[in-house]
Amino acid sequence: MNYKKLGNTDLEVSTICLGTMTWGEQNTQEEGFEQMDYALDQGVNFWDTAELYAVPPRAETYGHTEIIIGNWFKKTKKRDKVILATKVAGPMRAYLRGGANSYGLEKMTEAINDSLKRLNTDYIDLYQLHWPERHTNSFGRLGYEHKESDDWTKFEDVLGNLKRFIDAGKIREIGLSNETPWGVSKYLELSKEKNFPRMMSIQNPYSLVNRTFEIGLAEISIREEIGLLSYSPLAGGYLSGKYRNETYPKGSRMERDWNFWKYRYNTPNLKNAVEEYCKISEKFNLNISQMSLKFCEIQPFMTSVIIGATTMEQLKTNIESVNVKLNDDVIKEINKVQTFYPNPCP
Ligand SMILES: NC(=O)c1ccc[n+]([C@@H]2O[C@H](COP(=O)([O-])OP(=O)(O)OC[C@H]3O[C@@H](n4cnc5c(N)ncnc54)[C@H](OP(=O)(O)O)[C@@H]3O)[C@@H](O)[C@H]2O)c1
Repeated sequence: MNYKKLGNTDLEVSTICLGTMTWGEQNTQEEGFEQMDYALDQGVNFWDTAELYAVPPRAETYGHTEIIIGNWFKKTKKRDKVILATKVAGPMRAYLRGGANSYGLEKMTEAINDSLKRLNTDYIDLYQLHWPERHTNSFGRLGYEHKESDDWTKFEDVLGNLKRFIDAGKIREIGLSNETPWGVSKYLELSKEKNFPRMMSIQNPYSLVNRTFEIGLAEISIREEIGLLSYSPLAGGYLSGKYRNETYPKGSRMERDWNFWKYRYNTPNLKNAVEEYCKISEKFNLNISQMSLKFCEIQPFMTSVIIGATTMEQLKTNIESVNVKLNDDVIKEINKVQTFYPNPCP
């Protein structure tokens, strides 16, 4: 396994992070336990979850993934072996503390205390804001519509709230997710100016079919030591090549939950781009999933690639990607495909 520092902290996190969002929906607790045992054994010491999970999110399964992780900690007593990241949900669904102003003090207090209880722990290593409270372009949305609205908690107040939880020992570090360059720079500036704790990571999508991070965020990420934790590095499974023949294998994410995911993956050039990446992997005798993950891992702005797996076979393949080498010819061909099909899955 490879390791990198999380932001400018002393925490050494594995460059493969164990994603968890299918546990409690597509995967059972037993399967989650098996994944955690195996991943930790392989040196994957960094795990990502969220109060919102399992996904697709539903009121009935809200918090279930954290419960599964908490049960594993209780059973194995290995809480101290893991650098655990979770997230407070932004405004969206009424069952999440009523929707609006999720990052205000009262709601955040409730969110943290509930997460700690579900996770069977008294501290969280990295506490992330799952998505911005304000109206902005997250989750691949284009066509920015500016809305001047006061209906979001001021960044200063959010940082002040987070500081209280750090001071109380409930969280160690803080991070962003689904943020824009403006949001990242604003948070960092305020932390410097007013001596608040600083954001140490940004969790956004990044994969061969979505390299938009390179445009506006890569620079700030490196200059300011706020590394990327990339989610959906296999574009929900597309970059395993499993959807190549227009069929959805039984039990796969797109077969089960297409209606939920189509906003992200129903794009005209995704299949064409995946086809080209599959051809490159075949030409160089690489496993397409491993080639896709390794491409993410070697980016200079990358701290850790958050993998998702629903079977042990997938998990093993994905973790093994750290040992794959991509030579210059592979990278050259990958970059060529990007010019033909730039970010088909933003
Ligand atoms: N911050 C956010 O807003 C956000 C959003 C999304 C995800 N995340 C985090 O990132 C993690 C990973 O995201 P993701 O699940 O979307 O990642 P992904 O790597 O793009 O997709 C993972 C899915 O692809 C399929 N797959 C994985 N490895 C495979 C392999 N070797 N061969 C064939 N199929 C394979 C599996 O689905 P099937 O078996 O069903 O086909 C698996 O669930 C999540 O668990 C979560 O922790 C965060």
